[in-house]
Amino acid sequence: MDKSKLSAAIYTEAEIRQMVKRVAEQIEKDYAGEEVVLIGVLKGSVVFISDLMRALDLDVLLDFIVVSSYQGTKSTGVVKIIKDADIEISGKHVILVEDIVDTGLTLAYLRDLFLARKPASLAICTAFDKPDRRQVAVPVDYIGLEVPNVCVVGYGLDYEQNYRNLPYLAAYEF
Ligand code: IMP
Repeated sequence: MDKSKLSAAIYTEAEIRQMVKRVAEQIEKDYAGEEVVLIGVLKGSVVFISDLMRALDLDVLLDFIVVSSYQGTKSTGVVKIIKDADIEISGKHVILVEDIVDTGLTLAYLRDLFLARKPASLAICTAFDKPDRRQVAVPVDYIGLEVPNVCVVGYGLDYEQNYRNLPYLAAYEF
């Protein structure tokens, strides 16, 4: 891992911690007294969902879906399900948890896929958002922090599978 390629933190560990707290408070308010199924989109969401679920004072069920939509750094728009979620979600309140929304293609696809399974409700939550890159409109209910149009790594996000374990978010400079 070549740290000389990284910018200074775009968001520090403390700023991310604050973000998780804020998002968890919004979710708790919206789902007070309900059970929610958090479905993390692997691999990038693993750090965020681990922090988020522990910050939620709600009944939480946890599941994951593994998709691949990227070849290297380019979005192909073709989303392949490598591992589907296993929990039966019909009639349940589902929140899809992403690391970052970029073009929106992955979430647009996953939203339709999960809506077809007839959940009681479906919301989308992302740690980071790159609004300038959006190609398809997808409603994102909970947005942690906005980032500029650069490749970011850390807090679960990778560049060619590296840097996911950094506790802060930085730009990867090519
Ligand atoms: P979308 O379909 O273009 O919205 O792509 C979303 C997925 O692309 C995210 O879940 C990430 O896995 C990946 N991605 C998008 N931008 C970045 C980035 O800057 N760094 C690392 N991964 C990214």
